Amino acid sequence: MSIYKEVFKNNQKWIEAKKATDADFFEHLSQGQNPDILYIGCSDSRVTAEDMTGVEPGQMFVHRNVANLVPNNDGSSASVIEYAVRHLQVKHVVVCGHYFCGGVKAAMQAADLGILNPWLRNIRDVYRLHKDELNSISDEGERYNRLVELNVEEQCVNVIKTAVVQNAYLTTGYPLVHGWVFDIKTGKLIDLNIDFEKKLKGIQEIYDLGTTSK
Ligand code: CO
Repeated sequence: MSIYKEVFKNNQKWIEAKKATDADFFEHLSQGQNPDILYIGCSDSRVTAEDMTGVEPGQMFVHRNVANLVPNNDGSSASVIEYAVRHLQVKHVVVCGHYFCGGVKAAMQAADLGILNPWLRNIRDVYRLHKDELNSISDEGERYNRLVELNVEEQCVNVIKTAVVQNAYLTTGYPLVHGWVFDIKTGKLIDLNIDFEKKLKGIQEIYDLGTTSK
C-alpha cells in the first residue's frame, strides 16, 4: 500500500489512541491553543518537530521552510513570529537547524538553482559573515556542520532584530530566543546555548527599533 493511502488509516488510529486516553481530547483542542514555544525549523522530512520533542498538539507553534531561515524581508516567517509573540505570547522562540541539511549544502556549492537562488543566498550571506572561521576548517564535513550551526545563530539574530520580539522582551522578559541543531545521525537535539542577552545587546546599537527609549 502506498504511504499516501496509509496516512488516512494512520489518522483513524491516532484519533482512537487520543480518545482512549482522553475522550474529550479533540473537544478540548477545538477550544483554542496556548503554546509556550515557537519552533522555526527546516522542511526536511527527517526533522520532525513535534515527534522529536515529544510535544502534544497545542503546545508548540511551528514554522518550517527550506533551511530554517528568517530572512529580513520574508513576510511568511515575520507573520508567524508576529502572531506567536504578540498574540500567543510564547515564552520561547527556537530556531532549529540540522546536520545534513540539503539547503545549507546547496549554498556551499557553485550551482544555479533557479528560484531557490535568492532564498539560499541568505545562507551564502551567513558564510560571508563567517568566512574566516569557515575557511579555516579544512575538513569539508566539519565546515558543513559549522555552517549549519552558524546559520542557526544568524537566524536567531534575525528573530531578535524584529520589533515585536524586542518590544515583548523589554516589557515582559519574554520570549527567550534559542538555537538548536538536530543531529540526524544520532537523533540528538543539541542546544547551542546561544547567549540571548549578549546577542540582544550586541545588535541593539544597530537594530534598536526605538524600544529601549520607551
Ligand atoms: Co534542512
